[in-house]
Amino acid sequence: MKICCVGAGYVGGPTMAVIAQKAPDIKVTVVDMNATRIAAWNSDRLPIYEPGLGEVVREARGRNLFFSTNVKVSVAEADIIFVSVNTPTKSSGIGAGCAADLRHIEGVARVIAEVATSPKIIVEKSTIPVRTAEAIQRILAANCPVARCQVLSNPEFLAEGTAIRDLLNPDRVLIGGESSPEGELAVAALSSIYARWVPRSRILTTNLWSSELSKLVSNAFLAQRISSINAVSALCEATGADVDEVAGAIGRDSRIGSRFLKASVGFGGSCFQKDILNLVYLCRHFHLPEVAAYWQQVVQINDWQKRRFASRIVHRLFNTVADKRIAVLGFAFKKDTNDTRESPAISVVRDLLAEQARVAVYDPEVPAEEIRTAVLGAGTENSRLSVAASAYEAADGAHAVAVLTEWDEFKLLDFRAILARMMQPAFVFDGRNILDLAQLRRMGFGAHGIGKPAEACALN
Ligand code: NAD
Ligand code: UGA
Repeated sequence: MKICCVGAGYVGGPTMAVIAQKAPDIKVTVVDMNATRIAAWNSDRLPIYEPGLGEVVREARGRNLFFSTNVKVSVAEADIIFVSVNTPTKSSGIGAGCAADLRHIEGVARVIAEVATSPKIIVEKSTIPVRTAEAIQRILAANCPVARCQVLSNPEFLAEGTAIRDLLNPDRVLIGGESSPEGELAVAALSSIYARWVPRSRILTTNLWSSELSKLVSNAFLAQRISSINAVSALCEATGADVDEVAGAIGRDSRIGSRFLKASVGFGGSCFQKDILNLVYLCRHFHLPEVAAYWQQVVQINDWQKRRFASRIVHRLFNTVADKRIAVLGFAFKKDTNDTRESPAISVVRDLLAEQARVAVYDPEVPAEEIRTAVLGAGTENSRLSVAASAYEAADGAHAVAVLTEWDEFKLLDFRAILARMMQPAFVFDGRNILDLAQLRRMGFGAHGIGKPAEACALN
């Protein structure tokens, strides 16, 4: 059997590496039109920072795992084609800022139609609006009468930073297919690949539309929990309650559960916002404005939380940060990834620059150029933004330190040494609630967390 995956990104690369590791008899080729990315997959420095990924790739690469730019050849020879291309929010035209841009999905469907001469199982791995499979089927039927193709939905639930763990031990694998004999055969073929390492009881099969919709709803529910606890964090700050204590108390109710209740500067990542907006667009399209407004609010609270964090820094620094240096620790949207897409750090840094602050960013995995581009756009300069080689360098002469990613190394920093390098009075704003605020206050910092009581720092 031969598998081809179109799209060698954060999903396609790790997912195919794990399939190749677990199914050494299957040839797995990951293709991408981005030659630089493919070259990196074939090198010692993979394009994605993801714990455990290097070991899996090294085991399978060259044996039954291949990375190539030759899209048409790999598609033509494959029995199963995973479509794992990006599906960003549309930036112009109908549904701009809300609907999913499906140009890459359609592009892949047309390539398959052009080169397929044998039956194919096409697997939607990308996150897409419900009923996208129908569009793929129609393009194939109209352009590729020779090869019979089955379209399956198999959304991916991995989270970055834990991708390998999630792929090896998923809560569930979801496969949606047509309820026809051909559809059922295709679902069985895909299930048998996952069954090499995933217990059958965790492989769920549904109809196509349930599977497509479940992915959007899953991300919406996860993001909703974060916006809920972040909304509560503001109330905690106003009342003296501690958001971690509240989360701990409500999370002990097994109906609520303890996970995904960590208050933060806001959620980031390439998918939560995009997928909720996609859901909002679908609801509007199907004339359900109340449902659309309900989910839209999850994104609005997130935007507000990011702005609120930046304004709090300004407010606590005596209502001006003009020409003050702010050390921003962490730029990735979460720890253990180099991904910065929709990172809350982008919004916070922009707000601080708009207040004329001098911002020095340090992140252990994100390259300096990527930080500049994410904040300013390609080719734009701003002398107020600098990138430091360490947390200590960022803190040199700073008036405040803001923790925006929960990297483990920030928990181990020598804050006495940091305090000594900073302007006084010195402030810490912990956007991830990973630091011991009481200890920082004893050292002399004005220390602020998310949803944390501020009583011990009345002077600050
Ligand atoms: P990505 O941008 O990292 O990778 C997508 C790749 O597809 C890019 O390298 C791009 O060059 C390539 N591509 C696009 N069109 C192509 C074409 N016609 N031919 C060849 N290559 C093409 O995206 P990602 O983060 O891997 O996400 C992919 C999909 O998976 C999205 O729909 C996303 O919503 C979904 N998803 C992502 C995650 C995640 O953690 N990043 C998790 C679950 C689901
Ligand atoms: C998320 C989902 O968890 C995955 O199941 C899904 O497959 C993926 O989106 C996707 O479709 O792309 P990911 O965005 O990689 O995964 O990472 P998460 O761990 O979900 O974190 C997302 C954001 O929420 C991060 O900025 C994180 O810091 C933040 N977060 C998470 C919180 O602020 N509080 C929490 O309690 C949890």
